[in-house]
Amino acid sequence: MNEVYEKLQKCLSSVREKTDFKPEVALILGSGLGDYADGIQIEATVDYTDIEGFPTSTVAGHKGRFVFGYVNEVPVVIMQGRVHYYEGYPMSDVVLPTRLMGMMGAKKLFLTNAAGGANYHFQPGDFMLIADHITALIPSPLIGANIDELGVRFPDMSEVYSKRMREIIRKEALGLGIPLKEGIYVQFTGPAYETPAEIRMARSLGGDAVGMSTACEAVAARHMGMEVCGISCITNLAAGMSLTKLDHKEVQETADRVAGQFKKLVTAVVSSI
Ligand code: HPA
Repeated sequence: MNEVYEKLQKCLSSVREKTDFKPEVALILGSGLGDYADGIQIEATVDYTDIEGFPTSTVAGHKGRFVFGYVNEVPVVIMQGRVHYYEGYPMSDVVLPTRLMGMMGAKKLFLTNAAGGANYHFQPGDFMLIADHITALIPSPLIGANIDELGVRFPDMSEVYSKRMREIIRKEALGLGIPLKEGIYVQFTGPAYETPAEIRMARSLGGDAVGMSTACEAVAARHMGMEVCGISCITNLAAGMSLTKLDHKEVQETADRVAGQFKKLVTAVVSSI
């Protein structure tokens, strides 16, 4: 059997020893949203450290567990804390949790993150519906022997972020009176923030927001046929676009400042996708 798939099967059995909860929607929480999962109707939790072979996240402020429960009666699995490529894990480990949630039964994936705005029309605190992404600057999570059990060798990526879900997100944001930008997310490896030249490059490639997560997870999810959507919280203007230097504290502060609105939007979207 494929090594990566074998590891996934082991992780799945490890989770199944603790809970047989069947989620419909998988939700990955970005910076600022970490405590969203604490507010839902929780049925079970599984710490990443209790899953054999699971890559455990090291970023401060990320809890590191799966939360199973209901958001307005929709069965969900929530990743409280994600795994980043810059932590040193191979891409197959970075997307392992995403695949695992798919194997638990989740047919839909809702991605959230904090991102830098590369578009001059964006401001810190804006929300951006992810319309599409650029992953050409990072290794593909699908490199290596194909996992035939999950998907095909050469998967189509012409609609990574579901049109149907994007329509729902626009509607829900409008209903809540939350302004919503739209754009293209460009994933860099990090952990250093980008240079001004890299941001000019991202913009000239058509990018609107930059970050260090999300797009690789979207690729792995689409490979296995999950329906995907995503929203970025623009926490700062990207490098070279303002007079201030980039700082994780600023990112965290903006994410925390708009977390209340973000949570409302997440609840509305999960309830209707
Ligand atoms: N660049 C990359 N990742 C980020 C940024 C940024 O400016 N802000 C929040 N995450």
